[in-house]
Amino acid sequence: MSHEHKLLFHLRMLTDSVRMEAYCRAIEGTVRPGDVVVDLGSGSGILGLLAARAGASRVFCVEKDKYMVQRARRIVHDNGFDGVVEFLNTKIEDLESFPLPVDVIVSETMGPAGIDEGIFQLFSHCVRLLGSRPRCIPDELTVLAAPLQVHELVERRAQACRVVGLNFSSLAGNIGSISQILPVMPSMLIGPVGKLFHGAPGIDTLPEELTVTWDLAELCPIDAVGVWFKTRLSEDVDLANPPEGPDTHWNQLVLPILPGTGPIRGAVQFTLWPRFDSITPRWKWRLSWDGGEYTGDPADLDEPEDLEG
Ligand SMILES: C[S@@+](CC[C@H](N)C(=O)[O-])C[C@H]1O[C@@H](n2cnc3c(N)ncnc32)[C@H](O)[C@@H]1O
Repeated sequence: MSHEHKLLFHLRMLTDSVRMEAYCRAIEGTVRPGDVVVDLGSGSGILGLLAARAGASRVFCVEKDKYMVQRARRIVHDNGFDGVVEFLNTKIEDLESFPLPVDVIVSETMGPAGIDEGIFQLFSHCVRLLGSRPRCIPDELTVLAAPLQVHELVERRAQACRVVGLNFSSLAGNIGSISQILPVMPSMLIGPVGKLFHGAPGIDTLPEELTVTWDLAELCPIDAVGVWFKTRLSEDVDLANPPEGPDTHWNQLVLPILPGTGPIRGAVQFTLWPRFDSITPRWKWRLSWDGGEYTGDPADLDEPEDLEG
C-alpha cells in the first residue's frame, strides 16, 4: 500500500465515530491507573494513546509498518505521552518478549468480516508470548452471514459481459470470484442471519473452515452472501457493522454467487475458508442447496487460459 493509501486508510478509521466512541468507552472502562498495555497493530497509535490517557503507566505499541510507526511517534510526542507510549516496530509473530508483565491487550485488527485481518492469530501470538491471557479488548467476536439479493451486482455483471457491443463475458465471468466491500441494505437480506463463528481472541482458534446453514422459507434466488461481525469490546461495550446498524467505515463483505442460484427453498449451506494473504483477503466460499452448488474461488483469477500456448 502506498503512503497516501495508508494515511487515507487510517484517517477513515479515525473519523469513524461509531468505532471511535466504542473503543474510547471500552478502554476507559478497562484500563486502570498504572496498568501496562499492549496496543496490537497500533497504526496511528490512537488506541495506545487512549490507554495512556486512561492512566496506563506504560503502553507498548506493536506495529509492523515502519512508516506508520514514524507517523505515530510524532502524534504521541504532540500529545505529551513520550515517556509512556513506546513503539515496537515488528510483526507480533517476530517479537520474543515484552519488557514488562502486561495487564491489557487492546487491538482493532478487524476487517468488514471481523476475522479478515487475522485478529485470532494475532491475539494467539501475543497471549503465547505473555504466558497467560490478560484483560482483552475485544473480549469476544461473532461472525454473521446472510443470503442476499444484490441487483447492482447482477446488473454490473450483465453490463460487463457486453461492452459497446463487444463480448467481454470471459472477464465479467470472474466477478463471481471476487469478494467486494459494499454497503449492504437491510432490503437486500432474503433469509435468516446465521452465526458463522463465535470466539474469544486469545482463547479460541479460528477453524480452517466456517459453515452455517439457513432455512429459506420462501422460494427465492440468492446472488450473494453478506458477512459482517459483532464484537463485545468489554463488559458493557459492543461494536458491530450490521446492515441495519449505523454506517461505519467497514460496510460489509459481499461474496457474489453469479450467475445466481435461481429460485431455491429449504436448507442452504454456506461454507467460508478464511485466508489472510493481504489486507483484502482472497476468500474462497461455497454455497450448496438441494440440487445445486456454487464455489467462489480467487484461484480462478490467477492464470487465465493462454490461447496462444
Ligand atoms: C486496522 S489497523 C488499526 C490501527 C489502529 N490500532 C486503529 O485502531 O486505528 C491494523 C494495524 O495492524 C497492523 N498489523 C497487522 N498485522 C500485524 C502484525 N502481524 N504485527 C504487527 N502489526 C500488524 C497494520 O499494519 C495496521 O497498522
